[in-house]
Amino acid sequence: SRVVKLAVIPGDGIGPEVVAEAEKVLEAVTAQSDVVFDKTRFSLGAARFLETGDTLTDDDLAAIAAHDAILLGAVGGTPGDPRLKDANIERGLLLKLRFTLDHYVNLRPSKLFTGAPGPLSNPGEIDFVVVREGTEGPYVGNGGAIRKGTPQEVANETSVNTAFGVERVVRYAFDLAERRRKKVTLVHKTNVLVHAGAIWQRVVDEVAAAHPDVSVDYLHVDAATIFLVTDPSRFDVIVTDNLFGDILTDLAGAVTGGIGLAASGNINPDGAFPSMFEPVHGSAPDIAGQQKADPTAAILSVALLLDHLGLAEESARVSAAVETDIAARSAARTTAEIGSAIAARL
Ligand code: NAD
Ligand code: IPM
Ligand code: MN
Repeated sequence: SRVVKLAVIPGDGIGPEVVAEAEKVLEAVTAQSDVVFDKTRFSLGAARFLETGDTLTDDDLAAIAAHDAILLGAVGGTPGDPRLKDANIERGLLLKLRFTLDHYVNLRPSKLFTGAPGPLSNPGEIDFVVVREGTEGPYVGNGGAIRKGTPQEVANETSVNTAFGVERVVRYAFDLAERRRKKVTLVHKTNVLVHAGAIWQRVVDEVAAAHPDVSVDYLHVDAATIFLVTDPSRFDVIVTDNLFGDILTDLAGAVTGGIGLAASGNINPDGAFPSMFEPVHGSAPDIAGQQKADPTAAILSVALLLDHLGLAEESARVSAAVETDIAARSAARTTAEIGSAIAARL
């Protein structure tokens, strides 16, 4: 049988609660197949920092990188917690993993499942994927502040966009569109961010020339937020930078039934490093420890993980079980009840 080495990072807040359900579903879907998941658990996040002072050691990183894939819940404490001021969990842990493991494609699908409690009265069919660049943009930490704490303070946060980095993610988006409805929408803010905008537009134009059957569209990010609400069915593949992609995918989650349903994959398409699968949402300190979190995003992240590993049939079975479960939802259920119900359908 095939053995897949899986690193599991439950993390903080609702992370462990939703990961427990994702593992339940993973176990159920592989029970009868000949693939075995050999799991290693890593205790990382705000809780670990408060206990030991460590965020992500070189040993942790090396150990995680030796796996075939990573499943992560969520990391981070309550925004503004003074004890975490120096922890830098988001940069020092989550982004360090994404950058070091070269997760240049942050894949975030949005689909409106039948029965999902979306906020739109007339949503139409929603089925699009945001291909968010994962290693560049304003996220790289190219910035600094001078005269800190004074009225003369200057704080810079420079967006880094390389030809190499933009081209590889745009190529991925077009290849994906070829396998879907063959439409790519570039979302940026080229009217204001003229330098970064120009490289994105040029690369999209160049890659588009090699894909004559894919139609190409452009929207400024502010207008894109309008259409995500008023006409979401117009989208197939959205390609965008790291920050715009972050913002758009929380909105996309809300529009398709809630952030508790939104899954993601941080993909290294070259296979040089393990890819990492996680819900789009965070650690939700406001509902942590109460079994109120919806584990569906984590479970759909398992479907993305299975697909990435070439286990297309298992992936489709998980998605189908989720789809059936969502269609049947009525009364409120606990995190574990949702996970068990989906696992039972497998
Ligand atoms: P959040 O996504 O944790 O929460 C936003 C809102 O969505 C909250 O009201 C929360 O209760 C709700 N929510 C989130 N997930 C849910 C689920 N599965 N079911 C039901 N409701 C859900 O965002 P935030 O409050 O801005 O961030 C909290 C912490 O998480 C911060 O430390 C932040 O940095 C971190 N964070 C981590 C990740 C990650 O690990 N990938 C992602 C986003 C935020
Ligand atoms: C996400 C999160 C992260 C991001 C944060 C926690 C660094 O919001 O995964 O969407 O901005 O990418
Ligand atoms: Mn986000």
